[in-house]
Amino acid sequence: MKILVVGSGGREHALCWKIAQSPMVEKIYCAPGNGGIAAEAECVDIDVIDLEALGDFAEEKAIDLTVVGPERPLIAGIVDHFLSRGLSIYGPNAAAARLEGSKSFANETVERAGVAGKRFEVFDDPDEARDYVHDQVAPIVVKADGEAAGKGVVIAETVDDALDAIERCMVDREFGPAGERVVIEEFLEGEECSIKVFCDGESILPMVPSQDYKRVYDGDEGPNTGGMGCHSPVPSVDDAVLEQIIEQIVRPTVSLMAEEGNPYVGTLYAGIILTEDGPRLLEYNCRFGDPETQVVLPRLESDLVELLLATVNGRLHEMQPRWVDDRAVCVVCASGGYPASYETEKRISGLKEAAAEDGVVLFHAGTKQMGRSYFTDGGRVLGVTALDATYRQARDRAYHAVGRIDFENMYFRTDIAERAVGGH
Ligand code: GLY
Repeated sequence: MKILVVGSGGREHALCWKIAQSPMVEKIYCAPGNGGIAAEAECVDIDVIDLEALGDFAEEKAIDLTVVGPERPLIAGIVDHFLSRGLSIYGPNAAAARLEGSKSFANETVERAGVAGKRFEVFDDPDEARDYVHDQVAPIVVKADGEAAGKGVVIAETVDDALDAIERCMVDREFGPAGERVVIEEFLEGEECSIKVFCDGESILPMVPSQDYKRVYDGDEGPNTGGMGCHSPVPSVDDAVLEQIIEQIVRPTVSLMAEEGNPYVGTLYAGIILTEDGPRLLEYNCRFGDPETQVVLPRLESDLVELLLATVNGRLHEMQPRWVDDRAVCVVCASGGYPASYETEKRISGLKEAAAEDGVVLFHAGTKQMGRSYFTDGGRVLGVTALDATYRQARDRAYHAVGRIDFENMYFRTDIAERAVGGH
């Protein structure tokens, strides 16, 4: 089989790495890919949002399955475009991807499905949004309704901060058209976890749980990032809690989507808050998480390609994937300054030594290869994943490998997996 992976980050490297292990696969392409992905796949210089060019490429190379990493092409309708050309593709169509692409659609859907979510209101008029906020108790969550590359969410600690967020979103249009409408939500207190499932429109197959460290600094301080590291599994998500999340949150949503003519096919990612009153839905994403994929896929023993094919062909009910018991920890090495401005093109040393450590896999997130060397090419540069029998051992292995790597201004959190190690 020939597979095309769309995207260029650590998630896509993990997808290519796992897909390359399938005996069914003879060739992988990645558009546009990155320096490290080039070791698993032939990188092709096509933008993830250039649907026409991606479709042309898939036709020209007779690609058997395209796997989409990031949300932007999914929300823009890459699946609809490929299917209309008779091309096989893994991911939700544009109507189903609204679970991530439109916060109001997602909230209204889960409300109709009877899922325990958050109290929320949707506003097209800034004056009405301001009036509403005056009657709320902080913290208050203010979200740009549309897709804003993960940046359109503000957790306002005071009513004044919430008013400021409305101004920036709806009046200053900091997030462009994504902020024409805002969703104002209740803030949910509790530990967060990521539950991803394969879904073929009807059947649901959960992946192993994971937990992401979103803030840039140790101790969960500083601005939000795409994710500075993660671990899998999650001590507080045992089989009973996972079943509760699937049966009370994910399944009712998936069933309603199908009933309403928007069957969800692909990876559905539920961001969950474990509150005192039980698991509550924070948000849905329409894709694999990043960096979560970098701990989830290394724990998958089964063939990922079989699972992807079963998903797109409506045969998930036949699948029983195997996962290893080992704990997985991923530490993200970032460019100093990320998530604000940072420099690139710094030479990276120690990659071979780090990758040679037992139980360690390196996923490149933002690198490029020049000659025989790798250079930084993004905010998140590398994901260093380690597996071992306990969280502590996996964490120590990951940090040992991180210690081998160096580039100018390299930054990483030093407390990834601390919550899990403390819990066990
Ligand atoms: N790590 C969070 C995300 O993928 O959205």
